[in-house]
Amino acid sequence: MMKRLEMKFYKHFQGLYASIRVIFQGEKDEGREREYMSRKRGTGSTTSRPHKSALSRLLTLTYLPDMPPRLPTLSRLVLRSPSATSITRNVLPRRVTAAGMSTSAERQSDFQALRQLGAKHITKGLGRITEGIMVKGEGSYVYYDDGRKYLDFTCGIGVTNLGHAHERVSRAAADQCMGIVHSQCSIAMHEPYLRLIQRLLPVMPDPSLDSFFFWNSGSEAVEASIKMSRYLTGRQNVICMQGAYHGRTYGAMAVTKSKTIYSEFTGPLMPGVYSIPFPYWHHFNLPPTTPTSTLVEQSLYQLDLLLAQQTAPKDTACIIVESVLGEGGYVPTPPEFLQGLRQVCDKHGIILIIDEVQSGFGRASDGKGLFAVEESGVKPDILIIAKGLGNGFPISGVISRSELTDKLKPGSMGGTYAGNAVSCAAAAEVLQVFHDEKILDNVAARSQQLFSSLRALQSSNDLGPYILDVRGKGLMIGVEFVTPKSTTDGIVPDVGVVAGAPEKMASRVAKKCIEKGMLILTTSVYETIRFIPPLNVSEEDVKKGFGIFEEAVREVVREG
Ligand SMILES: Cc1ncc(COP(=O)(O)O)c(C=O)c1O
Repeated sequence: MMKRLEMKFYKHFQGLYASIRVIFQGEKDEGREREYMSRKRGTGSTTSRPHKSALSRLLTLTYLPDMPPRLPTLSRLVLRSPSATSITRNVLPRRVTAAGMSTSAERQSDFQALRQLGAKHITKGLGRITEGIMVKGEGSYVYYDDGRKYLDFTCGIGVTNLGHAHERVSRAAADQCMGIVHSQCSIAMHEPYLRLIQRLLPVMPDPSLDSFFFWNSGSEAVEASIKMSRYLTGRQNVICMQGAYHGRTYGAMAVTKSKTIYSEFTGPLMPGVYSIPFPYWHHFNLPPTTPTSTLVEQSLYQLDLLLAQQTAPKDTACIIVESVLGEGGYVPTPPEFLQGLRQVCDKHGIILIIDEVQSGFGRASDGKGLFAVEESGVKPDILIIAKGLGNGFPISGVISRSELTDKLKPGSMGGTYAGNAVSCAAAAEVLQVFHDEKILDNVAARSQQLFSSLRALQSSNDLGPYILDVRGKGLMIGVEFVTPKSTTDGIVPDVGVVAGAPEKMASRVAKKCIEKGMLILTTSVYETIRFIPPLNVSEEDVKKGFGIFEEAVREVVREG
């Protein structure tokens, strides 16, 4: 009986192959290569022909009757072009049985149907940097339904800090699933909630941060912090930073000042929000060489002016600031600036909220503590955490002093899924892994490695002139490119404009990196790429990622 396995190939293979060899590896066929006839679906032809059209093409591999009833693992496909150039495509390890052939074929066509469903039924309000269905994540790599494999330097936007599907974290979550999944924080305490607090207490930036509330997302935590500040001070106004990103719910959106896309045509937003320029040279249209002290002075001066002209201290509930400006361009917040904010807050009884949703949990660590704010010695009144906390399981936290939170009325905080047991169990294990696997040591080593490669590139004669700035902390690193006249968002800065430089460098470099097998993101309204590799990334993968990046920059520069 003939068995069939259907596979889809994508655009980048089109026109390249004339025959297909399927290689199985496993107990019986170890190392043996089997060649099977292939044909284009529906044509009846025994060889596939170069394909010229169509984004995806479904091929049917026809298996011969001598096939063993249980085939070993399908591991590779070799696509051979008429010019005998072969492309080896690793496919997802999958055990295929002769009986299961039709199952696998069904799976492929099911994926195809799912893609179409996604294209039609997922809101267009979501943007996406890749096509296809991500089916698996393992350490620093992710895999797609069609066998594509990527080095992941996005970590799901700074979330999977311990790599994808970290065995111990996933195991802790799975075990918790067999205990209790949802015990609802307003009904009862649960063990993982308490274990998590137990593990967080000793790693807080300051021992005064001893009162915890867990929620699901960063945005919700931001909302809670603003609500708490207003309640505790009896004041309404909130001061945030130009370039800040705090989320997409209404309060969080109101204090987000990184791009207009997040809130355009959706107003009115939460009232009572004011912003000051963040100490980033672009915000003052000054060169990257501007001393930090000058930038900090300028920003703090603007804060004084704001408090004198627009929002009186007695009307100001809180100041919210990220420890590293994320969406605003991966600009570390200078310790002197945080210290200046602390002084202003202390003077006027304003609550200082430090948002470490992205920078926390070792992401922007100097190798010593888990939080970027620690370098400044500043004590936050409220610390917001999320992302790396659960390594992919949804959980966020609002941490403050008991002295403040004791004033809150029971029932004023809460939420159906707040502090979910499975997420708490995963997060508690994350902290244990940080300790056991010495993650911060790796952050320090890999940060140094990546910074020195990027800085060498910035100093090089050929590509250096296109790199305006390399900055960041730990493994939260930004590279800003020059622009020919205006940024992608139409800003015409005095700095970083180089006649003849390629247009839209950041997005073009990111696109090329993806084509070359590495997921990477842009950030900010300036031409900036952000590196967010897993914190346990290997030396070899950092080298590989940098190599892909360098090649991409070189190609964009060459193409002009
Ligand atoms: C600094 C910062 N705060 C808040 C948020 C919002 O978090 P979430 O997307 O989980 O709502 C983000 C998300 O990227 C962030 O980077």
